[in-house]
Amino acid sequence: MVLNADDPDALTQVTAWLSAGEVVALPTETVYGLAAHALDPMACAKIFAIKGRPLLDPLIVHVLDILHGERLAVWNETAHHLAKRFWPGPLTMVLPKLPIVPSIVTAGKPTVALRCPRHPLMRAILSQCAFPLAAPSANPFGYVSPTRAEHVASTLGDRIKAVLDGGPCEIGIESTIIDLTDPKRPVLLRHGAITQHQLERNLSVTLRETKESDHAAPPAPGMLPSHYSPHTPLSRLPEDWQAHPPWKSEEAVILLARPKGTDFPRHTFWWSEDGHLEQIAQSLYHLLQEVDRLGCPRIWVEMPPGLGLGVALQDRLTRAMGRKHPPRA
Ligand code: TXA
Ligand code: MG
Repeated sequence: MVLNADDPDALTQVTAWLSAGEVVALPTETVYGLAAHALDPMACAKIFAIKGRPLLDPLIVHVLDILHGERLAVWNETAHHLAKRFWPGPLTMVLPKLPIVPSIVTAGKPTVALRCPRHPLMRAILSQCAFPLAAPSANPFGYVSPTRAEHVASTLGDRIKAVLDGGPCEIGIESTIIDLTDPKRPVLLRHGAITQHQLERNLSVTLRETKESDHAAPPAPGMLPSHYSPHTPLSRLPEDWQAHPPWKSEEAVILLARPKGTDFPRHTFWWSEDGHLEQIAQSLYHLLQEVDRLGCPRIWVEMPPGLGLGVALQDRLTRAMGRKHPPRA
């Protein structure tokens, strides 16, 4: 069921479901999240089952503000500094967890990922609930993340109580994740709209990035190379694609900006009019899902430049290409 956020009863209904341990999909400024009461292990177990997500992949916990975050984790000065600068917003911080956080949420890890979203509907729900909300992206495990209510409804709609429609997500890709467990050695776990450069400027340090080889145990699936994938095989357009187009006529092409010429296959799309990275991020997942539905034999994508927000966009597209393609469901 898709709930219209203008309906005055919708928020009350969502809060009642969440309080009763049910799972509801909610909009955030990054992507839609599959939310449940973060301090209720049974409610959180439902998230894993609904997504088909392995229990070894921990959930992000969403809080209204720093004060609520302090009840869940051991904070340090660096965390306070970044939260004051970037919260509410698309920054998730990994910190040592307090015992109140159930181990199912953190997949048994001693740390918890905290995020303070800025989407007004998510904030309204968080302020009505007397508890934090665990919420991974509201997609079936491994598939493209949802940035519109209809993305959630078409993939998980029959497995959840409802999705609260907050319109298209403002940012369109998942939050930046920084591990501050050791504040002297912060580690960037996932690129996002808050860039590595912004964080480094604020912290006056150089961030380490996780490499798979850093992990003794297998890395969390969000950090695995194959993730966020459509069913259709995805390929990167080569540098010289304009001179030597690689596509066959039935294949689809997604470009960064509206193309000038006319010599393109009939399934040609673009993420933005003029290549603005913010616009590309907003439509990244939406267009991938739309084009995936066409059932073309392949989707060719133009890679964004690796600067600013482009680093996170490259990261998501590269992961989407890393997939061995399962047949369509
Ligand atoms: O923008 C976002 O972050 C969205 C919205 C809904 O808030 N959420 C999101 O959640 O992207 P999810 O579960 O799809 O991605 C969270 C990532 C996962 O890769 C998970 O492994 C990692 O965060 N993570 C969670 N807790 C962690 C922890 N304690 N240590 C390291 N990584 C953690
Ligand atoms: Mg996800």
